[in-house]
Amino acid sequence: MPVYRGNIGNLLQHWVFCEIVQVLHSHAEHLAFIDAYSMAPVANERPRIDDTAHIFDFARAHLADGTSSYERAWHELHLASGGTGYPNSANFLVTLWKKRYSLLLCEIDRVTANELQIWSDRLRSSTRCLSAEVFTGDWRLRFSDGVHSSGDVDLFSFDPYMVSSRKDAKTSKVANIYPEDIDCLTAVAATLPQAVIMQISTYDSNDGNSQERVVTMLHSSAVGSGLEIIDKVRPLRSDGQGPSGKMMSVILARNAPWAKSLAPLEYRFQRWQRGFANGME
Ligand SMILES: C[S@@+](CC[C@H](N)C(=O)[O-])C[C@H]1O[C@@H](n2cnc3c(N)ncnc32)[C@H](O)[C@@H]1O
Repeated sequence: MPVYRGNIGNLLQHWVFCEIVQVLHSHAEHLAFIDAYSMAPVANERPRIDDTAHIFDFARAHLADGTSSYERAWHELHLASGGTGYPNSANFLVTLWKKRYSLLLCEIDRVTANELQIWSDRLRSSTRCLSAEVFTGDWRLRFSDGVHSSGDVDLFSFDPYMVSSRKDAKTSKVANIYPEDIDCLTAVAATLPQAVIMQISTYDSNDGNSQERVVTMLHSSAVGSGLEIIDKVRPLRSDGQGPSGKMMSVILARNAPWAKSLAPLEYRFQRWQRGFANGME
């Protein structure tokens, strides 16, 4: 069933994503977007109310006043969906990106993948959409066939529930990312001749997966592939006194010397978060 959380994690993931897409307008005519954990174009079920749901709800209620790329795109999508649900990254991308694009969307849940298929079939009538593939299943299976792209820039999104720096066969879950998955991603990136930007997000630091540990793992896997970490973006804790030790979105780049201009995303995201937190008081 297509579900969304409606929490600070969504704000972090998509605020950062939309900033990247905007910057890419100066570096690509054809953007290839590859999302390993796609979600539905608009997810309508919110089975759980998290402790940061009020922040998400406040942002959603004030979209018309928002000035960021994220809020503007979300507002447009919100109006188009009749004010319900939450859009996925692919929907933010086709709303914000004004040039040609191709999509590879992996989704393990069959019902959700069917919704993606119907949505992407409609996109194909646009001259901007050069291709749209929906893969129903675990992204690992799709990636094992290789990822080929004719974009000027390949933008990858990995939005699992958690990046784990340890693999335990008893507890491993397809919705998490493990060290060998990171090695697979960096190996795939190394085969691509064009510029690559990768956003990898994690929402938990359980089981000894501190942010430092995860960043160290990403760094050591990335080094040999030419990918480098451009920034890591953490939201502010609810007391506003420092960054969250749980959530983090890491941006990596390869063959893209201009990608350094994306930083400092963390400073900018926290300034945005502070701005609307002030409005909530
Ligand atoms: C955290 S959400 C992703 C959110 C999404 N990227 C967005 O745009 O906000 C997780 C989604 O990934 C799907 N999923 C979980 N494990 C997967 C896997 N191994 N391969 C492909 N999809 C997966 C789930 O069914 C769910 O729709």
